Amino acid sequence: MAGADDPPAARPKQLANGQAGRKRVAETRDEDEGAQRRARRARLEAERRALPVWATRDALLAEVRSHKTLIIVGETGSGKTTQIPQFLLAAGLADGGGGGAGGGGGGGGGWRGRGMIACTQPRRVAAVTVARRVAEEMGVRLGQEVGYSIRFDDCTSPATRIKYCTDGMLLRECLVDPLLKKYEVVIVDEAHERTVSTDVLLGLLKGVAARRGGSFRLLVMSATLDAQAFSSYFGGARAVWVRGRQHPVAVHCTTAPEDNYLDAALNAVLQVHCEEGPGDILVFLTGQEEIEGLERLLADRAAALPDGAAGRGGGPGELLALPIYAALPPDQQMRVFDPAPPGCRKAILATNIAETSITIPGVRYVIDTGFVKARGYHAKLGADSLQVVPVSQAQARQRSGRAGREGPGKAYRLYTRDAFEALAPTTPPEILRSNLASTVLQLKAMGVEDVVGFDFMDKPPRAAIVRSLELLFALGALDAGGALTPDVGAAMARLPVDPMFGKVLLASGRLGCSIEAMQVVGLVSSDGLFHNPRTKRDEVAAVRAKFVAPEGDHLTLLAALRAYLQVPRKQRAMWASDNYINIRSLRKALDIYDQLEGHLTALGLPLRSCGDDPAPLQRALAAGLFPHAARRRAEGGYGVIATGQEVFIHPSSVLCGKKPECVVFDELVRTTKHYARQVCRIEPAWLPELAPAFFAAKAGAAAGAVERRGGGGGGGEGAG
Ligand code: CDP
Ligand code: MG
Repeated sequence: MAGADDPPAARPKQLANGQAGRKRVAETRDEDEGAQRRARRARLEAERRALPVWATRDALLAEVRSHKTLIIVGETGSGKTTQIPQFLLAAGLADGGGGGAGGGGGGGGGWRGRGMIACTQPRRVAAVTVARRVAEEMGVRLGQEVGYSIRFDDCTSPATRIKYCTDGMLLRECLVDPLLKKYEVVIVDEAHERTVSTDVLLGLLKGVAARRGGSFRLLVMSATLDAQAFSSYFGGARAVWVRGRQHPVAVHCTTAPEDNYLDAALNAVLQVHCEEGPGDILVFLTGQEEIEGLERLLADRAAALPDGAAGRGGGPGELLALPIYAALPPDQQMRVFDPAPPGCRKAILATNIAETSITIPGVRYVIDTGFVKARGYHAKLGADSLQVVPVSQAQARQRSGRAGREGPGKAYRLYTRDAFEALAPTTPPEILRSNLASTVLQLKAMGVEDVVGFDFMDKPPRAAIVRSLELLFALGALDAGGALTPDVGAAMARLPVDPMFGKVLLASGRLGCSIEAMQVVGLVSSDGLFHNPRTKRDEVAAVRAKFVAPEGDHLTLLAALRAYLQVPRKQRAMWASDNYINIRSLRKALDIYDQLEGHLTALGLPLRSCGDDPAPLQRALAAGLFPHAARRRAEGGYGVIATGQEVFIHPSSVLCGKKPECVVFDELVRTTKHYARQVCRIEPAWLPELAPAFFAAKAGAAAGAVERRGGGGGGGEGAG
């Protein structure tokens, strides 16, 4: 089939032969478009068939037919994620063992959602970009036969047969459909990433596979050679390897430590661009801010490059910086996959998502800063924190390897060989260093009473589970015996937000501010509302002043949203750009609001607004975020009441420098100090009232003096 289509360039010649007469000429335009589409599909088809998994297609299908649980290991970029679900569908393996569905594009209508294939990804970006790619390969509209589902964004339909979703989403589905009856095949992809959700999912799926009959298939796919651990966890399950192609990669380290890896990355990109042969550059950075920073620096410096500076083939050509990170809009994410225009070199500025989750064609040079932003749990702080940490050796190797997928490559590590030797060999599974409150709540809601005894691949520390149980008890989600409370706990488990924000929403119903609470949760869930171009600091401060709320960041976000809603629809885009507001974040927030409204309505909570009185919303925030309540200290800084940890208000907060007496905050960021981000002023006297199980008013002390109650309640041990 592939060879039958003419490349677009051949088309005019064919038309000139003029066999089809006038009618054909009239249709030229349509035909050209059709030809281009066909040519593109032919190219995609050729690319697919060249992937290493294609060589093992029949053998793989035979393995899947004869094993209920199969571990598939294959190098990143070998085609596991994009191809294997298509193989299964085309082979009829998603039809409950019945007749063959006709591969790509066929059928669809009338499909009632049974016998689907789910393929989980730890990262939202991967779920979305892969689904788009596969839809294109199959020639179907995204959301039809192929779709994706990530939190707050469900792009599937009754016709969907292959669904890419985050591991967290499938976990949520287990709440309502514990045997996952909708699915004939569940693929846990990128299992080596060992996210908390993946680990919990593996535990649940082990049970599902045992309880479901004949045709159900569980596939665990991983990019590392550590198949043994997965295999033995699944009782000696069969493991197969897909051979990839890996070309040699020359690895260069720096000779001396770099004190600023962003500057070092900038220089490395420019050096590669000016001195090296063709091939795109992939730079690993830690997050959106860094990526935007480097993008700006590159734009400035590239403009200053002398024309025709030394380089092979005369002049380095243009350098096209392309960012990719989770919060980037999907159509912009997809741009990294487009080939560089002729004479142009791509520099892809990526977070860790490009390490294994997604493969970008054309990369020959990798620049590794050696750092990654990781969500960690600080037992002492009792809080999650986002932290920039060094990668492991395994991660560093994986990053370098990305340069050698299509030919020999080069990797530049912006750290010394000694520094590499000092890195941890591997990254421990996330479950060993995470806040488990949400996980424990979900397990409880699925009827797993003994969370400590749950069959985890790696058991989280008992203390971490107990702490989560205590937190859930304090939030009212569990009773003293450790059982899910029917009002709060069951409701909280159904809300697609962190338990603390779940509590904020539940409390808001009673406090008469559920509309504002949903808006705020929407706003904090859709990151990056405010745009802060560094070069325009004063201008930004001037326009932002009108939104700044004395109560803090949540109410400031809310003020911006309210102002936006007052603007006539047609002027909104302009308004947002004038106010340095990211309109996509705002739309996303409103979208989340709509979904939360559905949930709250289903839970029977009243939808009420507190109008211009901020106090009810502050109280609602305190009612959920109280484990993150902190008081000002005489010596400066704040002390988290629950743990005694010293924290400071983040410089980006509107409350920074305002010295409020008592605050609650969303999250901690650790750089040189611990910083509280997204901060709201509250009254300390509210705490014992809103969370009596957690705080007790200090008897006899001055009004508002509170301390944490000893012991933290009995929620924990009931489960042990
Ligand atoms: O899962 P695995 O790492 O084995 O490979 P994959 O993600 O299925 O990628 C197979 C190929 O598809 C790679 O060459 C990618 O570059 C390509 N791909 C793409 O061009 N665009 C996407 N959105 C996703 C994958
Ligand atoms: Mg993959």
